[in-house]
Amino acid sequence: MRVLAIESSCDESAAAVLDEAGGLLAHELYSQVALHRAYGGVVPELASRDHVRKLLPLVRRALAAAGTGPRDLAGVVYTAGPGLIGALLTGAALARSLAYAWGLPALGVHHLEGHLLAPLLEPDPPPFPHVALLVSGGHTQLIEVRGIGRYRILGDTRDDAAGEAFDKTAKLLGLPYPGGPELSRLAAAGTAGAFHFPRPMLDRPGLEFSFSGLKTAVLHALRGREIDARLKADVARAVEEAIVETLTVKAGRALQETGLATLVVSGGVSANLPLRAALSGAAARHGARVYYPRIEFCTDNAAMIAMAGLHRLRAGERQGLGIEARAQWPIETLAPVGDEQRRADGPARGGVIELDGTEQA
Ligand code: KG4
Ligand code: ZN
Repeated sequence: MRVLAIESSCDESAAAVLDEAGGLLAHELYSQVALHRAYGGVVPELASRDHVRKLLPLVRRALAAAGTGPRDLAGVVYTAGPGLIGALLTGAALARSLAYAWGLPALGVHHLEGHLLAPLLEPDPPPFPHVALLVSGGHTQLIEVRGIGRYRILGDTRDDAAGEAFDKTAKLLGLPYPGGPELSRLAAAGTAGAFHFPRPMLDRPGLEFSFSGLKTAVLHALRGREIDARLKADVARAVEEAIVETLTVKAGRALQETGLATLVVSGGVSANLPLRAALSGAAARHGARVYYPRIEFCTDNAAMIAMAGLHRLRAGERQGLGIEARAQWPIETLAPVGDEQRRADGPARGGVIELDGTEQA
């Protein structure tokens, strides 16, 4: 089975071709970072318009690189949510239209399930069950993953996501968007322990996170001081230390509480090298092993969407001719793969844009 996948949930346009036997045959990506940089963050309308320009050429390139034509495909899968609704709709409309024209099934994929399954693209994939630490720009969750579609949220953030905390504090330091990687680069030049920022919720039991206080801590650290390169690097270092320690302690706690010995880390923030080092150390102390996607598949890409879509198409999931896009879509509402029960369409469909609900023959 071979699928074409399209990702357009935020500010990366991407297409990929994944083959069940042959693995990842092609993946193409265009990042809109330069487009949004002038505004200090993603401008949704600009993102949608740029996806419209870039997606079809990316699809062409991916198919050519994979030596694949429509006849070789078993379906077209696309990110149906969560994400920016306009951006999602561009990919959904393109994927649905291509599938219709080629007489193939189309299937909307959950973006975070894509992140969770990204490590399955690696030669040594993680076993199930495992604990997943999903750390992206919009989400910070600890999830017990018992199989594909079998997700139990162990802990979530009460306010900002880890990536959001990186981005917002980076902005306070005058760093360009997206702040996470920039802040991390600056932090490497900072002095460890020069500042100590709070690690909220660490002193309490449980697996919840809260990162919004970091912005205030950074503002306090900068106030009344001459803001030079040294100060910025030291503050960046302290931000990174606070986020990394919080994530590491809670991930360790999740391993302990579940008794599981495998930790999967994914989402954009899993590209952070100090976080990887700290998590590897913590996992070793818990007698557990950590799995990550390769760096380029930590951030948004279509290869991970292809992986999630392939599993669901293979399990027989199909959708009608509607174009599915959901700005919000709780991951716990997904149907388990490999069960008799099919896609849990009922309660989760809030926000679905159905242009045509007719079932495909
Ligand atoms: O998964 P992703 O590409 O998009 C979402 O689904 O949100 O994650 C993007 C987030 C951004 O907040 C970005 O700053 C952060 O991941 N990020 C990093 C690093 N690389 C990306 N944060 C810290 N260190 C990094 N090296
Ligand atoms: Zn993402």
